[in-house]
Amino acid sequence: MYDDHLLVVGTGIRTTGQLTVETVACMQCAARIFYIVADPVAEEVIRRFCPDGAESLYGLYGEGKPRMQTYQEMVDRILTSVRTGERTVAAFYGHPGVFAYASHESIRRARAEGYRARMLPGISAEDCLFADLGIDPSSNGCQSYEATDFLLNARSIDNSSQLILWQAGLIGDLTFRRYAYDTSAMPLLLEKLLLSYPRTHPVYLYEAPSAPGCEPVIRPIVLEQLLTSGITATTTLYLPPARATVPDPTYLSRIRLQQG
Ligand SMILES: C[S@@+](CC[C@H](N)C(=O)[O-])C[C@H]1O[C@@H](n2cnc3c(N)ncnc32)[C@H](O)[C@@H]1O
Repeated sequence: MYDDHLLVVGTGIRTTGQLTVETVACMQCAARIFYIVADPVAEEVIRRFCPDGAESLYGLYGEGKPRMQTYQEMVDRILTSVRTGERTVAAFYGHPGVFAYASHESIRRARAEGYRARMLPGISAEDCLFADLGIDPSSNGCQSYEATDFLLNARSIDNSSQLILWQAGLIGDLTFRRYAYDTSAMPLLLEKLLLSYPRTHPVYLYEAPSAPGCEPVIRPIVLEQLLTSGITATTTLYLPPARATVPDPTYLSRIRLQQG
């Protein structure tokens, strides 16, 4: 289908059902598949596509080890295969280009070394969230931030738009933890959100199911309950707008809307 040396693909949040036809075709033609997936069914599916060449990269994670170090090791592993000339696929859960450093970096490095490399889109947690919460980013707009990035940088919040926060359950912890991340920075996240939202503002804790037929976990809380809400590493936070959209008079007066 594609003749790239490296194909970076996504397995969706639930591999059974969210693997695209395009991704399946690429996996079936691969000599090597390196993968990071969250559930054993996904692993089994990938291994069937490439019985002799599938290898999990999960073992590169280590308790308390900086995640960035692991990501660099993943890239090194993928590039070593690309350099042998074997048709290499790197499969990441969700969308491979969404909150996934190793996928983008593998492509950058492969291309820099003269190899053809391509990313195929997959279904991300955010895609599942739009479906399960029944929201549309076009209604009032939608801001999407990684929680630690949101805390560390001077991001301007438009609280008339929707807000999605990723990796809140890992906030401030740049290492890998198998069971529990150090979330001692969570009070700082609450403090920062309270600059833009009232204490009683609704927040939805969202977890997409990783198996077909299972229901999503959607837990509505109010903002002040954030510290006791039991956010996990797979939770994504969704905050609806806190106020009505304010029209921009500068452009409102100058645009000539074609309304038929
Ligand atoms: C390293 S990112 C990986 C994102 C993934 N590449 C994607 O396309 O969705 C991990 C973060 O994705 C979100 N996430 C992963 N799995 C999820 C799930 N099952 N339900 C909701 N959010 C999820 C959480 O915010 C989590 O902290």
